[in-house]
Amino acid sequence: MPSPLDGLPVALGVSGSIAAYKAVDLASKLTQAGALVDVVMTSSAQKFVTPLSFQSITHRPVTSDPFDPQTEMGIDHVAVAERAGIVVVAPATANTIAKMAHGLADDALSVMLLATAAPVIVCPAMDGNMYANSATQYNLGTLKDRGITIAGPAVGRMASGLVGAGRLIEVREIIGHMSVVLGRSGDLAGRKIVVSAGGTQEPIDPVRFISNRSSGKMGYAIAEAARDRGAAVTIVAAPGALADPVGVQVVHVETAMEMQNAVVAASEDVDALIMAAAVADWRPRDSADQKLKTGKAVSSELQLEKTSDIVAGVSREGLVKVGFAAETEDLESNAQGKLAKKGLDLIVANDVSAEGSGFGSNTNEVVLIDADGGRETPGLLPKYEVGHRILDKVRGYLK
Ligand code: C5P
Repeated sequence: MPSPLDGLPVALGVSGSIAAYKAVDLASKLTQAGALVDVVMTSSAQKFVTPLSFQSITHRPVTSDPFDPQTEMGIDHVAVAERAGIVVVAPATANTIAKMAHGLADDALSVMLLATAAPVIVCPAMDGNMYANSATQYNLGTLKDRGITIAGPAVGRMASGLVGAGRLIEVREIIGHMSVVLGRSGDLAGRKIVVSAGGTQEPIDPVRFISNRSSGKMGYAIAEAARDRGAAVTIVAAPGALADPVGVQVVHVETAMEMQNAVVAASEDVDALIMAAAVADWRPRDSADQKLKTGKAVSSELQLEKTSDIVAGVSREGLVKVGFAAETEDLESNAQGKLAKKGLDLIVANDVSAEGSGFGSNTNEVVLIDADGGRETPGLLPKYEVGHRILDKVRGYLK
């Protein structure tokens, strides 16, 4: 399944904030994802960045003057508004937000915003006091009541030097909000899915632990794919360097036991549990309160005990269960064994020693084996795509 942005006409409204330079990066990322980005700028936005900056990146005309006969808006003043599959205003200033709230249409951006029937995401960026002002808050409330998504602002250091709420959210987050909005009508809308991700850490003492090479990328990719298809998603995440995706609830855990408690709690009323996490099978029997002295207790005498099998222990009528088998040999026979033993509907067999597969990579080559004897080999794909293939199977099992 391609990215929801692939081939999508996006209207990107840019108003006059210093954060306008970040909209150039946003336009670039959207274009790279295959979107057809029509940029519409206010005149103050052009004091910060030029139409040419956007045009060079989107390879499409930029609208800044509604009466310019050389632009599409000069010929058909609502063409961009009507073509857009989604509208994003980033950065959205207090002034642009006020105009939207009151339905003004006195420049190219406000005309487009009034004329569009597409879903709109507004990403505020302004001085902290302007954001906190009750006029701005009232206007944002009005937009929210109309079904417009208000994304941000972030808290941090602003151009004035003050620290507070008023920063434009990150480009990654803006695209995340777009994915949530675009996913609302997806084939998993109304479904709830729990995904576990990453490698658990089992403490030996306060500074040492036993873990594995799992990066969490596969689990996060499944979660993002499920979100993009409209599911309500919870990730139970072992420690890792991945940022929490927008529109997904993330429960952070460290140990197998914490993961078990979080998965059991999160799975209570869900449709599917996808255990992409590499859960430790063994943990140190005792974890020292103080750092152990080198050469003394951290030795061959480390005593281990078995963790309990999380996915095998969660079972409920109608719950779809997916497990992973990360193997370095006898891939399919090991996976078959785990499928049966853990009571799974589907197992994702993963040769983690193969080129481009497994831990840390952005791609994966898996074999999907289901409880009815079905077998699929999607080939080497980006992990996000692999996530979609797994979800295609999950959707088939849902009641
Ligand atoms: O570690 P193993 O190869 O048995 O893992 C196979 C599947 O079982 C994975 O989906 C993993 O998340 C899950 N698992 C679990 N609880 C454990 C160990 C593994 O749910 N303690």
